[in-house]
Amino acid sequence: MSDISLIKDKAKKMWSTFSAFETVTALAAPELIKFSGVHSGDRLLDVGCGTGVVALTAAHTGAKVSGSDLTPELITRAKENAQISDLDIDFQVADVEDLPYKDNEFDFVLSQFGHMFAPRPEVATSEMLRVLKPGGVIAFSTWPPELLTGRLFVLTGKYGPPAPKNVSPPVMWGEVEIIKKRLSESVRDITFHRAEYGNPTLSPSHMRVALEAYIGPIGATVKLLQPKPKKLAEFRNAMEDLLSEYFQNNTVIQSYLMTRAIKK
Ligand SMILES: C[S@@+](CC[C@H](N)C(=O)[O-])C[C@H]1O[C@@H](n2cnc3c(N)ncnc32)[C@H](O)[C@@H]1O
Repeated sequence: MSDISLIKDKAKKMWSTFSAFETVTALAAPELIKFSGVHSGDRLLDVGCGTGVVALTAAHTGAKVSGSDLTPELITRAKENAQISDLDIDFQVADVEDLPYKDNEFDFVLSQFGHMFAPRPEVATSEMLRVLKPGGVIAFSTWPPELLTGRLFVLTGKYGPPAPKNVSPPVMWGEVEIIKKRLSESVRDITFHRAEYGNPTLSPSHMRVALEAYIGPIGATVKLLQPKPKKLAEFRNAMEDLLSEYFQNNTVIQSYLMTRAIKK
C-alpha cells in the first residue's frame, strides 16, 4: 500500500466516530449555505460531507444535492439523515482527491471542515474545481491555526505521532494568504468571512472528554499516550486550559473562516 493510501485508510478509521458531533457542525451549515449564495434548483456538491449537514441544509433550500465523504460509516448516517428528512440526496463514499463526478457538473462545490483534511491540497483543489462549472461557486469553511479548533489540532500534532512528510497540515487551509495562493489562478472574486458557533457543554473537562471520544485525531493521540501517563496528563491539561479560554455560559465558542470564490 502506498503512503497516501495508508494515510487515507487511517483517516477513514479516525473519522468513523464523528457523527456524535453532527448537531454541532449543523449549526455552521446554514452560514455556509447563505455565504455561498445557493438557490433552489442549483446543482450542489458537498465534499467531505460527513453525515451530510451541509448537504441536507442545501437540499432544504430546493438545491439538487450530491454529497461524498471518505468514511463509509458517515455516509451510512448521511443516508439515514436524508431519509428522516424525506430528502432526495445522492450520497456516495468518495475521496475528495478522486471525485466520481463529471467535469463541470455542479453550480456549487462546498466543503465544511472537510476537504481541509485531504493530505494533498493541490489534488483536492483541482478535483473540486474540475467538477465545478466555469462561473460556478466554490465555498468552504475551515479552522485557522490561531482559533480554538486550529489550536487544538496544532496541540494534538505536538503530542501525536509525527505527521507524514508528504501531508500538508489541515490548518493551513485556514490561512487567507495560503488559500489565495492555492486558488487564485483558477478563480476570481475571492472573499473571506469569519463566523462562529457555540458547542453546548457543561465544562471544559466535559468538552475534552467528548473530543477524545469522537474526534478521531484527538482520540488517536490519547491512545498513543496511554503508556506514558505523565505525557497524557500534560496533554489533557493543555487541552482543558485551551478550552477554558473559549468557555462561557456552558458553551465553547468555536470561530472559523469561510471562503467563497468563482471559477474562471
Ligand atoms: C470535521 S469532519 C466534517 C464533516 C462535515 N462536513 C460536517 O461539517 O459535519 C471531517 C470530514 O472530512 C472527511 N475526510 C477526511 N479526509 C477526506 C478525504 N480525503 N476525502 C473526503 N473526505 C475526507 C472525514 O471523513 C470527515 O467526515
